[in-house]
Amino acid sequence: MEFQNVSVVGLGTMGHGIAQTLALAGANIRVFDTNHKFLEELHHRISGNLSVMMDAGAIPQVDESEVLKRIVCCKNESEALKGAEFVIEAIVEDLELKKAFFQRCETIVSADTILASNTSSFPMTEISQLLSRPERAINTHWFNPPHVIPVVEVIPGEKTTQQTVDQVVRFLKELGKHPVRIHQELPGFVLNRLQIALFREMLDLVGRGVISAEDLDIAVRGSLGLRWAAVGPMRVGDFGGWDVLTKVYEVLASQIRSDTKLPEALADLQLQGKLGLKTGAGFFEFPDEDYERVVAEKDRKFMAWAKVLREHYES
Ligand SMILES: NC(=O)c1ccc[n+]([C@@H]2O[C@H](COP(=O)([O-])OP(=O)(O)OC[C@H]3O[C@@H](n4cnc5c(N)ncnc54)[C@H](O)[C@@H]3O)[C@@H](O)[C@H]2O)c1
Repeated sequence: MEFQNVSVVGLGTMGHGIAQTLALAGANIRVFDTNHKFLEELHHRISGNLSVMMDAGAIPQVDESEVLKRIVCCKNESEALKGAEFVIEAIVEDLELKKAFFQRCETIVSADTILASNTSSFPMTEISQLLSRPERAINTHWFNPPHVIPVVEVIPGEKTTQQTVDQVVRFLKELGKHPVRIHQELPGFVLNRLQIALFREMLDLVGRGVISAEDLDIAVRGSLGLRWAAVGPMRVGDFGGWDVLTKVYEVLASQIRSDTKLPEALADLQLQGKLGLKTGAGFFEFPDEDYERVVAEKDRKFMAWAKVLREHYES
């Protein structure tokens, strides 16, 4: 493997799944989280994930204890960073905390250790501002759940070298991921920009009663979602014909929502405290007693589709 010894710091929603992915691929991992509960529960949590993934056929049968043996939980940060060739930071989304973390990293790891952040919003150029060797700092933006979703956006900072980018892309491929290179550090990188552009229109349409939330999900899954998953949206354009799309674009571009105001449907949800699964309701109802079942079902669906995609990408 490109890197055999990896440190993962921050073991919440993202970090634990990233550590799992690395260990499953055969890397030796040292991990740390300031919340000791996450450290104590890590092996149990990953063991549960692995069982669900094996049951779903998302990964081949593996000896869980062999995978877990490769993950060493450390009592402090410096112990976790010792000997790392690659560091992945998945701590809370706080710029100052991230900057300080990587500064401390530089005093512990070797000069050529790659320093990767999983930040959703901060440019690596900013996070690595105070580093003496920012050329090895890079953003690898994984998607939740990171042990299931194949794509990772790779966004270099202004000073990141091409060699760093190439090494990271090779490494992510070795982990079974599908890294995509992002060539400019734009807010939201690429995929969150697309997601918000679509959410703006979808929330507007649902808010105005043009379509119900239920029907919108049915419609997107059975049309855009299916075509995008199967061949990708740019090929959908090629297959459909850009002459046709140009005409549709010219008619619709001025009709769809383009302002920056929060869509009313979203503002209403906030007011009602309907923030989705975590509060028991969003557009849909999630009774407390269904929580575990709903999460497991969602994860099983993600895994089933990720499996289809993997076979498809690989064929
Ligand atoms: N949740 C998502 O969907 C998602 C997706 C992509 C990227 N991200 C990004 O990944 C990062 C982590 O997000 P998350 O959702 O896993 O957050 P989370 O709150 O679930 O986990 C963060 C963890 O970091 C720990 N932590 C905080 N400060 C620390 C420090 N100094 N040292 C060690 N551990 C520390 C916390 O105890 C917590 O366990 C953020 O930058 C976030 O923006 C999140």
